[in-house]
Amino acid sequence: MTKILIMGATSAIAQATARIFAAQGASLYLIARDPQKLADVAADLKIRGAKNVFSRTLNARELDQYRQVVEDAATQLAGLDAALVAHGTLSDQQACEQSIDRLVDEFTTNALSVMALCTELANYFSAQKHGTIAAISSVAGDRGRKSNYVYASSKAAINCFLSGMGQRLSKSGVKVVVVKPGFVISPMTAAFKKSALWATPTAIAPVVAQAMIRGTPVVYVPWFWRPIMLIIRAIPERLFRRLSF
Ligand SMILES: NC(=O)c1ccc[n+]([C@@H]2O[C@H](COP(=O)([O-])OP(=O)(O)OC[C@H]3O[C@@H](n4cnc5c(N)ncnc54)[C@H](OP(=O)(O)O)[C@@H]3O)[C@@H](O)[C@H]2O)c1
Repeated sequence: MTKILIMGATSAIAQATARIFAAQGASLYLIARDPQKLADVAADLKIRGAKNVFSRTLNARELDQYRQVVEDAATQLAGLDAALVAHGTLSDQQACEQSIDRLVDEFTTNALSVMALCTELANYFSAQKHGTIAAISSVAGDRGRKSNYVYASSKAAINCFLSGMGQRLSKSGVKVVVVKPGFVISPMTAAFKKSALWATPTAIAPVVAQAMIRGTPVVYVPWFWRPIMLIIRAIPERLFRRLSF
């Protein structure tokens, strides 16, 4: 895996994963919305061993740009082996309950933009008959809770979308990887009180990188979220409605 596009490259989880590929001498095409943060990440990855680092600013909501972005990445890198889609926002649940505009914004950032980019990547990779598409979803997408069901349902939407896409591409040599992190210490969760369940981006990054290399369809990070979510998904809906977590 030597030529990788990373969307949301300034994300803490994306950066930690990109450092692993940089150390292996990969060439990277980084996309993020903040030019200064993007320049800092690009410089860091070059120092850490990336063969080539190209970067481009883009707001994830500019859905009509993705075809050109994928083409540009493939041109700059002289090919494309894999993509990691990592951008996202932790939606303000209460604001979304009061504003349809906010609700649509959150779905555009967390779901529609991921679907749009993955659609362009799928078409590019299936034409060349190889490639890996990895997207960072969340354990939250496994069940909607009152505290975050807007964010959770946007992640559930990409889980379902990428499951179908993975099935569509399974015989074409293209792998689709859904990464489901639990609680991760990052700027997105800076305001949260931390507990023993929290992981660092550096701790989960090797698992994310390994899943991309192997083409693992669904990976929970850390692993213990798989049994936790199995239990949470198994709670009968009638009982679940009465719970307050
Ligand atoms: N942290 C957790 O506990 C956790 C758990 C499960 C899943 N996740 C998922 O993991 C992924 C990475 O999050 P993280 O924890 O690494 O948090 P993070 O460091 O805050 O990263 C979020 C990234 O998304 C980017 N972004 C947000 N809106 C964007 C937009 N409209 N256009 C372009 N980029 C945009 C941010 O860009 P700026 O730098 O410009 O703000 C930032 O790079 C997200 O998809 C998140 O939902 C996180």
